[in-house]
Amino acid sequence: MVAEVKDLCGQNGQCCSEMQNQLQQIDAFIDELAKQGSLDGKLIAILHKAQEIVGYLPDEVQAHVARRLSLSPAKVFGVVTFYSYFSRVPRGKYAVDVCMGTACFVVGADAVLEECKKVLGIESGGVTDDHMFSLNALRCVGACGLAPLVLVNGKLYGRIKVDEVKGVLESYKEGGAQ
Ligand code: FES
Repeated sequence: MVAEVKDLCGQNGQCCSEMQNQLQQIDAFIDELAKQGSLDGKLIAILHKAQEIVGYLPDEVQAHVARRLSLSPAKVFGVVTFYSYFSRVPRGKYAVDVCMGTACFVVGADAVLEECKKVLGIESGGVTDDHMFSLNALRCVGACGLAPLVLVNGKLYGRIKVDEVKGVLESYKEGGAQ
């Protein structure tokens, strides 16, 4: 399994050993779940954990999860691309997600997203040059009562006002809100 990752990487360098380590952590999580029972229906939980460990879900991680669960890579890819929470590209140290579901949209999520773009200087889907922040627009995250909302590494800022966005994001720049 490790050799396969090296082959995919082709660099035999530090990134390979880091990826091996991350895949081992994913394996440990899967093994722990397997001890509790069948892995049927656990794909999303495993992908959540994998994204938490790796930071995003590159092709080799998706392939690894597919092999472990005896699923087709296409099945895993379909789930990863269906849920806007999952990212196939590297994210910043702080992943800023703005919900653009209907309940959030009707109470001004578009203005919140615009303010995030302005404060961070990137477009939705982008990462700042220093890799500190990435910005994404999500579909409904299931907390409509708190609309509009922003998540920073999963921490929820509900009923956020446009003029509060800058303060929230800058607190991460300063390392104060982690
Ligand atoms: S629409 Fe934003 S949480 Fe549901």
